[in-house]
Amino acid sequence: MPVTRKIKRTPPPASVPVPPESRAHFYGHGLPGVELEKLNGKLIVVEGADGSGRSTQIAQLVRWLEGSGHATLQVGLKRSTLVSEELEQAQHGNILSHTTLSLFYATDFADQLEHSILPALRAGFIVLADRYIYTLMARDMVRGIDPVWLKNLYGIALVPDAVFYLEVPPRALVQRVFAKNQALDFWESGMDLGLSRDMFDSFLQYQKLMQKTFRLLRETYEFTIIDGSRSPQEVTAELQTRIEALLCSEESTGGSFATARAA
Ligand SMILES: Nc1ncnc2c1ncn2[C@@H]1O[C@H](COP(=O)(O)OP(=O)(O)OP(=O)(O)O)[C@@H](O)[C@H]1O
Ligand SMILES: [Mg+2]
Repeated sequence: MPVTRKIKRTPPPASVPVPPESRAHFYGHGLPGVELEKLNGKLIVVEGADGSGRSTQIAQLVRWLEGSGHATLQVGLKRSTLVSEELEQAQHGNILSHTTLSLFYATDFADQLEHSILPALRAGFIVLADRYIYTLMARDMVRGIDPVWLKNLYGIALVPDAVFYLEVPPRALVQRVFAKNQALDFWESGMDLGLSRDMFDSFLQYQKLMQKTFRLLRETYEFTIIDGSRSPQEVTAELQTRIEALLCSEESTGGSFATARAA
């Protein structure tokens, strides 16, 4: 008589939640010792000329994101605890060569990257950067610094999840900057370049040069151009839609982000 054996079926293993793989990466050599897979947050950059509306937009985005439960951190140029004051002083004196000023700004950036941006991303924050390496590179490029040297220098930078460039025609920028500060800034008018003795004229020429350089940078770096000449509310609405899409795509691929909704 044939012996029938009972086959014992083992239950399928309970599914183990696997943390989503971080897609974070550096542009180049990066900073040593950073565990990229642990960066769960998002880095969102708002770029644009002086007066293009970056602060206005970031303030709205912070309110909206925090209102929907996200922790945020704001960073920007010349905000490091290490060298921001010294950088300000050096600019007042206008004593540094283009190269040393460039390295000074790179130090300010590196300090914020290491001590603010990366820890916040590790903790799952949404980091909003008011300008990033692109402004630094564009400013240096219009002052004759080699783009390849700059690309290497900023190989330390983390690739953001999104870069929004607020495009505003230079003539509209002048109006806004005047309305806000009743004056033009020496550096933002490119007065150190000797384009014109007239600050107003120099501002227009300099901002046109900067916009041209940003277009060049777009061949290497990915930006989303946002028409910043519309009303602040219209610009905010577009930014929110785009950021929402970014956070939703993360959620649908198993990311750790909840969908952000307009408050
Ligand atoms: N979309 C807009 N339309 C018209 N005016 C605007 C718009 N956005 C901002 N402004 C106004 O333009 C001025 C500059 O805006 P804001 O300070 O946000 O720009 P910014 O890019 O942060 O400038 P800065 O380079 O000085 O930091 C402010 O007076 C602001 O109220
Ligand atoms: Mg501002």
